[in-house]
Amino acid sequence: MVSLLENPLRVGLQHDRIPAPQILVIFGASGDLTQRKLVPALFQMRMERRLPSELTIVGVARREWSHEFFREHLEKGVQDFGGGIDGSNQAIWDKFAQGLFYCPGNIDKPEDYHRLKQFLAELDEKRRTQGNRTFYLSVAPRFFAEAAQQLGGAGMLADPAKQRLVIEKPFGRDLASAQALNYKVRNVCGEDQIYRIDHYLGKETVQNLLVFRFANAIFEPLWNRQFVDHVQITVAETVGLEGRAGYYETAGAIRDMVQNHLMQLFCLTAMETPNSLDAASIRNEKVKVLQATRLANEGDLSKCAVRGQYSTGWMKNKQVTDYRSEEDVPEGSVNNTFVALELQIDNWRWQGVPFYLRTGKRLPKKVSEISIHFKSVPHLMFQSAAKQMSDNILALRIQPNEGVAMRFEVKTPGSSLRTRSVDMDFRYDAAFGKPSTDAYSRLLVDAMLGDQTLFTLGDEVEQSWRVLTPLLEAWDAPAPPDSIPLYEAGTWGPIEAELLLNRSNRRWRRL
Ligand code: BG6
Repeated sequence: MVSLLENPLRVGLQHDRIPAPQILVIFGASGDLTQRKLVPALFQMRMERRLPSELTIVGVARREWSHEFFREHLEKGVQDFGGGIDGSNQAIWDKFAQGLFYCPGNIDKPEDYHRLKQFLAELDEKRRTQGNRTFYLSVAPRFFAEAAQQLGGAGMLADPAKQRLVIEKPFGRDLASAQALNYKVRNVCGEDQIYRIDHYLGKETVQNLLVFRFANAIFEPLWNRQFVDHVQITVAETVGLEGRAGYYETAGAIRDMVQNHLMQLFCLTAMETPNSLDAASIRNEKVKVLQATRLANEGDLSKCAVRGQYSTGWMKNKQVTDYRSEEDVPEGSVNNTFVALELQIDNWRWQGVPFYLRTGKRLPKKVSEISIHFKSVPHLMFQSAAKQMSDNILALRIQPNEGVAMRFEVKTPGSSLRTRSVDMDFRYDAAFGKPSTDAYSRLLVDAMLGDQTLFTLGDEVEQSWRVLTPLLEAWDAPAPPDSIPLYEAGTWGPIEAELLLNRSNRRWRRL
């Protein structure tokens, strides 16, 4: 029998491939993402010889920087946030830096796009990049449509074989705006040119979910309502606002994390088996499961969703401020920094199985995990041990301590019949060293290669917004400051989040 994984050329999950010579144009290049993530990731890949030597990067932003200043700014980024530059790789950096350019420009000025177009054409000559372009929109979300339309207007997205558009998240801020954005972007290029990025899909352990589910025969028979009691997905962060009030106040945890990262983890856990690992099959299955998904109790949202905001507290023996005292947060803000919710999927596989999702800032640990909680045994013979027994749990650790653990019961040694839960543990670092590729490296290379497997389809984004619509409507409405539950920084969210599960005699896994 031929396994899904045997044909590397057709499989989007392979990465030993080198993109064609091209120009990567980053809009918003003076921002943090370029300096901290994108360029350190690209340089790392250059060192691993996974990029063509002709690769050229052009930064676009409003500030009047020179090429030289841009290069120094990025070099500092590699020093501070990447693997660093020293005697061993200075020569590689110098060569790489020769391919870095800066072109000042405004998002809304057509003449700036024409100037950029001209500049790119000159670079094609100089750097042999053959007209291939990947445009990366790392600008504030409200500029996505404008930038796409201007690029289209300047004829820079006209050739689907050579020109692609990468769009950061969040894509829209609700269903209607995502539909409008999809419409505008599709007006200037085809869906096959659009790469909606969600960096969680670039994480090795997230991709491993597909391999774990579909390359192993033993889990699939259990992966359904007959055996699974419920599923928990947690993405917890210790950081607070990190000076991002301008963006975060318009997003909150629901738009910043749930609509994209958590919903992607949810889709990969719950979707049906795709016919193959190509982009269309996987993305279609994700859309299908989203179409069948809803909030568990749309009639009474308080029974299926909880929001919270961090108040002052202690983290690693240091007192941290409350959300409302963070820089630039308006007084009395009711923005959510924590969300927990229960989803239901109306299909044969999952009917009646709750999926609990939670995420928050200023939680006690940085940890992302998916746990599958299996049903109890139908008849318990070990009455005396019943109190100590816990259900079987399969835990997929996304980060840190990447790996997979299976929790089951064993008899403790001794004459009395006592049981204890133990974990059978697979750890990436023990087996392979750390999971190799940084998420952005993976996604940048895929976009430059034209592989859409790990990017989000327009319909997928819309469906994900649709599921959350009742919550967005309720939580966006103006409300008094005391309408949002507070939680002490350094705790696992408001008490209401515990009650969400306690109501059905379940509880969050201790992480
Ligand atoms: C980003 C969010 O998409 O993901 C941030 O905007 C968040 O608020 C970050 O901190 C978390 O990513 P990771 O990879 O550190 O889990």
